Amino acid sequence: MAGSLLITRIGELVTNSPADASESAGPGDFALINDAALVIEDERVAWAGPSARAPAADGVVDAAGRAVLPGFVDSHAHLVFAGDRGAEFVARMAGDAYAAGGIRSTVTATRAATDAELRAGLRRLVTEMLRQGTTTFECKSGYGLTVPDEARSVALAAEVTSEVTYLGAHVVPPEWDGDPGGYVDLVRGPMLEACAPYSRWVDVFCERGAFGADEARAVLAAGKACGLLPRVHANQLGLGPGIAVAVEAGAASADHCTFLSDADVAALAASGTVATLLPGAEFGTRQPYPDARRLLDAGVVVALATDCNPGSSYTSSMPFCVALAVRDMRMTTAEAVWAATAGGARALRRTDVGYLAPGARADLIMLDAPSHAHLAYRPGVPLVRAVWRSGRRSDLGLNRVQIAAYE
Ligand code: NIG
Ligand code: FE
Repeated sequence: MAGSLLITRIGELVTNSPADASESAGPGDFALINDAALVIEDERVAWAGPSARAPAADGVVDAAGRAVLPGFVDSHAHLVFAGDRGAEFVARMAGDAYAAGGIRSTVTATRAATDAELRAGLRRLVTEMLRQGTTTFECKSGYGLTVPDEARSVALAAEVTSEVTYLGAHVVPPEWDGDPGGYVDLVRGPMLEACAPYSRWVDVFCERGAFGADEARAVLAAGKACGLLPRVHANQLGLGPGIAVAVEAGAASADHCTFLSDADVAALAASGTVATLLPGAEFGTRQPYPDARRLLDAGVVVALATDCNPGSSYTSSMPFCVALAVRDMRMTTAEAVWAATAGGARALRRTDVGYLAPGARADLIMLDAPSHAHLAYRPGVPLVRAVWRSGRRSDLGLNRVQIAAYE
């Protein structure tokens, strides 16, 4: 659309902007304006404020009392893979435990897939995410685990996002069983060299059954030396060194944080490392949920993300994660929505998304609901009615669905 667009009669505009904090309905930087309007110009938010003071614009959309929020920022997803692990999920629901080793079956399927198959699967998930209001997402490699297979994973991810993460250190693949140290050398050597040009981030699964503290440190240091920024899969399956390694490396985020010692919580609180919680993984593995209240009460910055992957968390839905965080992790609706938007932006060190104020990228969603709280109050309901990315309205295909249903 050329020119400016005014979205008016917004029942509740979540801005996450300190300027609106006096009207805050919750803690932290979560902030909203009731009876609001917002102007988009080019790719940015040009104005946000009370409807009564809205300036004129070239086009108008009447929100008719609906809620408008920043688009979700999903800071943790594994979207480049082939195959299906539904049978593992079925077995877990019948009592089996989750183990890191399941990753290997996806590795086998991913290596066997063509580029076109991987691209089609990736695009299907990206479309799902967009329909559910995600406007920024991170995407990891980690199911190739050879130099060419990791390189094509990050190259495919780079086709759909600028937040690409090199996760060669996901697990040790079977052909390196006898020489895990040799695999770490590959990950921090030739594999890194092949993947770095496509990647912004380097990640390590620091966990029993995956990589230990020293291995994780070595991979993160090599990534940093190549200009990549660190993030860590930490403390998903048990207590361990992952959080300490993340904080020590200056990681933007320590992800999972399901098992935490007091020292872990203190280290996170004293650091610039965000704790990214992934409740889809606890849902899908029937583990206890992370203790969000303990982190928030200690002053840790918390993000929520999907961890979308075929093993532990096969959901692409940020609204689902918000609902889980509110219902089962005792986050307030305000905390959960902040964590899924501004928190995700912090976890990706982004200052242009996750909030709606002049200058922000015009990434926003309109709900078929009057309040952000409906994301948890009406779980499982497709409430995202419209999505704008960089000021452009996305076609969610909803009109076609409506026409088909009522014709
Ligand atoms: O974040 N923890 C490591 N990686 C994924 C699981 C991947 C898989 O099971 O395929 C996660 O949960
Ligand atoms: Fe993950």
